[in-house]
Amino acid sequence: MNSFKRALFCIGLLAAQAANAVTAVALTVDATRPGALINKNVYGQFAEHLGTGIYGGMWVGPESAIPSVKGWRKDVVDALKELHVPVVRWPGGCFAEEYNWRDGIGPRDKRPVMVNTNWGGVPDNNAVGTHEFFDLVELIGADAYVNGNIGTGSPRETAQWLEYMTADGDSPLVRLRAQNGHAKPFKLTYFGIGNENWGCGGNMTPAYFTNLYNHHASFVPTGKLAPQIIAGGGLDGDTVWTDYLSRNIRAPASAISVHYYTVPGRGGKDKGPATGFAEDQWMSGLKDALHMRELLDKNVAVLDRNDPSKRYTLAVDEWGTWYEPTPGSPARFLQQQNSLRDALVAALHFHTFHDHAERVSMANIAQMVNVLQAMILTDGKAMLLTPTYHAFRMHVPFQDATSLPVTLDRQPQYTLGGAAIPALSASAARGKDGKLYLSLVNTDPKEALAVSVLVNGAAATGATGSVLTALAMDAHNSFASPKAVMPALFAARAEHGKLSISVPAKSVVVVALGE
Ligand code: AHR
Repeated sequence: MNSFKRALFCIGLLAAQAANAVTAVALTVDATRPGALINKNVYGQFAEHLGTGIYGGMWVGPESAIPSVKGWRKDVVDALKELHVPVVRWPGGCFAEEYNWRDGIGPRDKRPVMVNTNWGGVPDNNAVGTHEFFDLVELIGADAYVNGNIGTGSPRETAQWLEYMTADGDSPLVRLRAQNGHAKPFKLTYFGIGNENWGCGGNMTPAYFTNLYNHHASFVPTGKLAPQIIAGGGLDGDTVWTDYLSRNIRAPASAISVHYYTVPGRGGKDKGPATGFAEDQWMSGLKDALHMRELLDKNVAVLDRNDPSKRYTLAVDEWGTWYEPTPGSPARFLQQQNSLRDALVAALHFHTFHDHAERVSMANIAQMVNVLQAMILTDGKAMLLTPTYHAFRMHVPFQDATSLPVTLDRQPQYTLGGAAIPALSASAARGKDGKLYLSLVNTDPKEALAVSVLVNGAAATGATGSVLTALAMDAHNSFASPKAVMPALFAARAEHGKLSISVPAKSVVVVALGE
């Protein structure tokens, strides 16, 4: 569908829904009470050596017939630039805990092949290593977040990798880096020590991990090029690890990691497919996504108790949807389609992160390309942008914006059987460009919401932006129809001093408010 047809389609959809827009809500944005800065890093990404997430999906190598820049697919790099990706975490995940950085440097044809035991037992020829990763982040304008190896690596490996990446002056490792093509230090902003060490990272207890963390982090170089250190954290957002770490870290750390995935039905076969699901799976997916709010509340409460001076923030460095893999896809490649439901899951997470802006300094969706809740899917030389990509793009103005309080006169509920979740989620902020932005999510797949907007401290004269919605809950982009789900232009005008926004069923709306 071209953009004109899409706009007409959306107007038709909105008109159809306006007829049923029975639920009215009054929403107030308080522009006179600015809250915390929304760290742009909550719009971060995660790229692991897993399936075709890196090899094929992003990295094709300089000799490939697929156009590339420094070996990275040009179509993917161009699309990622549009998202203003602030930070990328690499090389894992579980993969990081068996990665030896020395295998990924030097001439590519001489690098050893390793077996990716976590993810399908497939060979990894180490074509993507430290230098290639820094090329990628430079190409897309992101900061680098490299995750070290505490599971099978030694403190010496940690210290030497950091020296290789960041040391200035003269040393054997600096000379090796220069010999490999990079005389100047790389700009490493974040370094992770640990990943899911309660599970794939070594089945450790919090006490054992914390000792190891202190051991490794003690050898992190200091000085102006030193990265901020992120400590691996707990299981599914439980607070035990956050509690233990925040009381027992003795070496440098700036953040504690938290992982939580949206898994409809919380696992097993109940998680269901990525598309072709019934309404109960729509409900359980969104309900599970909203659980992130409760889990962050609990982790923030633990930090507020143990760390009132705010030495540590939380880095939600893995989040996203996890469904049954695409039928026929290779085992453990975690390939799944991405539908309108995923776009709503993403936007609900953004609202949650905005509301926890004081403590949540980073979040990294899992993962960038072809794995779990991806921005981009590829198949050979074909590439498409998912509904999640569009949700990220619509929210770019919220990066480094100042959050603003939003109140509702009532919270309409979306109910199905015995389950109920809020039908409306809203988040507002003053962007870096000085404009007021409002993001709205209607979780109800059948009913539109009539939202009247009042702004304290400003007169909202209109709203312009975009809406992401579709006729089906599982609408998605396929290689045959790569633009089936796309944002459409959206506008609302104020009449008699009142701004009314009709939020379509199952939609995400992001608007700038005219003042
Ligand atoms: O994102 C996929 C995997 O999920 C990561 O490797 C691991 O940290 C988590 O369990």
